[in-house]
Amino acid sequence: MPRSTVARIDTSAIRHNYRMACERAGSARVMAVIKADGYGHGIAAVARALADEAPRYAVACLEEALAIREAGLSQPVVLLQGIHQRDDMAECARRGFHPVLHSDYQLDWLGAAAEIPAFWLKVNTGMNRLGFPAESLAARVDALSAKPVLQSALQGFVTHFACADDPASQVTAEQTRRFSRAVAPWPHLEKSVGNSAAHFLEGQALFDWSRPGIMLYGGSPMIGQTGSELGLKAAMTLEAPLIATRLLQAGDCVGYGATWVADRDTRMGMVAVGYGDGYPRHAGTGTPAAIRGKRIRLIGRVSMDMLAVDLSSAPDAREGDAVELWGPQVSVDEVAAHAGTIGYELLTGVTARVPRLY
Ligand SMILES: Cc1ncc(COP(=O)(O)O)c(C=O)c1O
Repeated sequence: MPRSTVARIDTSAIRHNYRMACERAGSARVMAVIKADGYGHGIAAVARALADEAPRYAVACLEEALAIREAGLSQPVVLLQGIHQRDDMAECARRGFHPVLHSDYQLDWLGAAAEIPAFWLKVNTGMNRLGFPAESLAARVDALSAKPVLQSALQGFVTHFACADDPASQVTAEQTRRFSRAVAPWPHLEKSVGNSAAHFLEGQALFDWSRPGIMLYGGSPMIGQTGSELGLKAAMTLEAPLIATRLLQAGDCVGYGATWVADRDTRMGMVAVGYGDGYPRHAGTGTPAAIRGKRIRLIGRVSMDMLAVDLSSAPDAREGDAVELWGPQVSVDEVAAHAGTIGYELLTGVTARVPRLY
């Protein structure tokens, strides 16, 4: 019998969250961002779960787009990082992948390609990761106009927000202004700016296509709010069995480094999950988990294959019970906050050792 440490994936939650993105996107259409193996949920399963609803998918790279085709799905796939090899341009054209081109070397590959895919141009409006400077866009588009086939393959323009998770930040409004100004000469082409967080910003323009990722999985895109507080449903429950219990006496310690010492007699348990499964080692004492519908807390250091919990609030807990590390009862965002990271990292970091059950 395999160990019962599993990631249960609720595909109906993904559909619920996608529909919420559509409602919040207003007149914009919604491409589902399913890169990084569907944020750890399994790219094929996520793509299939949204197959009847999402008109497009977005991924980072060609390999991920190919996985969508292998899953039997034919929607166009936007490659958010463009392509990494010259020959991939023709592959994109043949397979219906739409690269987002961000640098001149990619435009050179485009100009020399035998087959031209539909493509987008990335505009740098201030995040300064990728993209053509907003003020240089006209020159790039003019250069494409020399070849009508390139001009007609241009779908539109993409930018990405640096601070949309923070409603108090002025950066998103400034990036939106710069983007609007830069793309104004081409009202007939499509525009896309919005990650998940942009769906939760009052009055934020989402143009023609929004690009939600984390919210599809129930993770929060907003600082200081959990996904469930935003009305999202957790799509992944990371669950592991309680494999041992013990009564500690005041003064006893637990785990590597003996970092946690009982200040009173305490019933504790060991859970069969650790950083080898993607549970964050930086989640310290006090990080929540749940058993038998009750919240419990981690104590001591997380090991590779195990972690310790204080069972004081769940006296009826027994060996063999399932412990929820994150899911509907314990938000991944809360666990992430205890580990000094974000839900994105935890969801995408669940390792191959953990079976995904759908
Ligand atoms: C270009 C781009 N668009 C959209 C997304 C989706 O972002 P989020 O998961 O915050 O919704 C990402 C994710 O990193 C991205 O890089």
